Amino acid sequence: MELPFSESYRIKMVEHIKKSTRQEREAWIREAKYNLFNLHSEHVFIDLLTDSGTGAMSDKQWSAMMLGDESYAGASSYYKMKDAIQNILGFEYFLPTHQGRAAENVLYSTIVKEGDVVPGNSHFDTTKGHIEYRRALAIDCTIDAAANTQLEIPFKGEMDLEKLEKVFKEYPKEKIPCCVLTLTNNTAGGQPVSMKNIKGTAELCRKYGITLQIDGARFAENAYFIKTREEGYADKSIKEIVREMLSYGDIMTMSSKKDAIVNMGGFLAMRDQELWRRCQMFCVMYEGFITYGGLSGREMNALAQGLDEGTEFDTLETRIEQVAYLGRKLDEYGIPYQRPAGGHAIFLDAKKILTNVPKEEFIAQTLGIELYLEAGIRGVEIGSILADRDPITRENRYPRLELLRLAIPRRTYTNNHMDVIAAAVKNVYDRREQINRGYVITKELPVMRHFTVELEPAK
Ligand code: F0G
Repeated sequence: MELPFSESYRIKMVEHIKKSTRQEREAWIREAKYNLFNLHSEHVFIDLLTDSGTGAMSDKQWSAMMLGDESYAGASSYYKMKDAIQNILGFEYFLPTHQGRAAENVLYSTIVKEGDVVPGNSHFDTTKGHIEYRRALAIDCTIDAAANTQLEIPFKGEMDLEKLEKVFKEYPKEKIPCCVLTLTNNTAGGQPVSMKNIKGTAELCRKYGITLQIDGARFAENAYFIKTREEGYADKSIKEIVREMLSYGDIMTMSSKKDAIVNMGGFLAMRDQELWRRCQMFCVMYEGFITYGGLSGREMNALAQGLDEGTEFDTLETRIEQVAYLGRKLDEYGIPYQRPAGGHAIFLDAKKILTNVPKEEFIAQTLGIELYLEAGIRGVEIGSILADRDPITRENRYPRLELLRLAIPRRTYTNNHMDVIAAAVKNVYDRREQINRGYVITKELPVMRHFTVELEPAK
């Protein structure tokens, strides 16, 4: 008999989590103004808000923490991180930052100016926020197939090279400080980009003299999909694939809270020494001296170790198989989600589930609240609240997809938790016909409103 799949780790330390009653959850979500970010985490049973910084570090990472060098300048921890970035990712220059958006801030402070355009495959919301805040334009060039949740293709996060070339032809290269390739494509559902497409994007950038920035938050998961789905890569190691993938980029911004499996950390890496020098000024101003940026020595140590573990096949197989397991459970119950299952999350297709809720009442947010009320499970809306208002007209933007993301933290929950999640989603799905009304906004900030927005039930 073929042995079933199992995790490539055993558990050495546990953290207690508490169940609650529906009545308690009704009060808590009301107090949270129907914004899942406002909930106290102890009021959440299974927390799928994000896979960012919520993973479990390994024994080796914890022991690396104890060896952190907390010197202000030139700490050995900095050099450990430098070696890992050079050896595993292949970038010569880097600046540590406290997380991914801080790397974006340092980079875009240096290279983006008012009136610029930055094309990409579904810029993550902080990336877009940093571009729009500087009165530049983020142009989405993701393939159209990504918006059809039921279409099953292996690389659904790709850049549409025709759309990209159109941008390159329309704007002079002085107006395009960089092109952002996000691996994996979070917003499109944790969907990967093939090596062929990475290469194609890089070639197009080179042809037009444009810098290619890789947003590598989930670069290792992307490499796993290349290994398991793209012809010619089955026999290559994850580390070999990672080196090739990143060799096509000029710059990498990294939220290490994802694929480097740390609770806090990030960096900005590049090949160009001159650019590195220019970025140093903003690193010093916003983050810290160039050999620690926003990080302590122990965090840099854990990050270096995490980059190594996170690019091991076993680690990635365990993780991505767990997400796929949840996907198969949802298939059993006929629940629509962005297919195939993504690397870090399942994205429920809220428009197909709550067909009676009008788009003006935030369909995916409504589904998120229902799932919380059902079982204390917290997902996150990837829909029109996140899409924010048009920076010029200030009208609400309604994206093609209204998704509820269930992000799975790394090495944190077991497949029993996946069973509970699937059952809870099924229970909401079974009563979908009775859910007719959503929520309206009562308070919001001008940029990245979804974190702090306040809502009330629509009347
Ligand atoms: N890029 C991508 C693709 C991301 O998913 C994120 C964060 C960032 C950049 C910014 O990194 O959070 O370290 O500042 N994504 C988290 C999420 C927040 O839940 O998907 P950060």
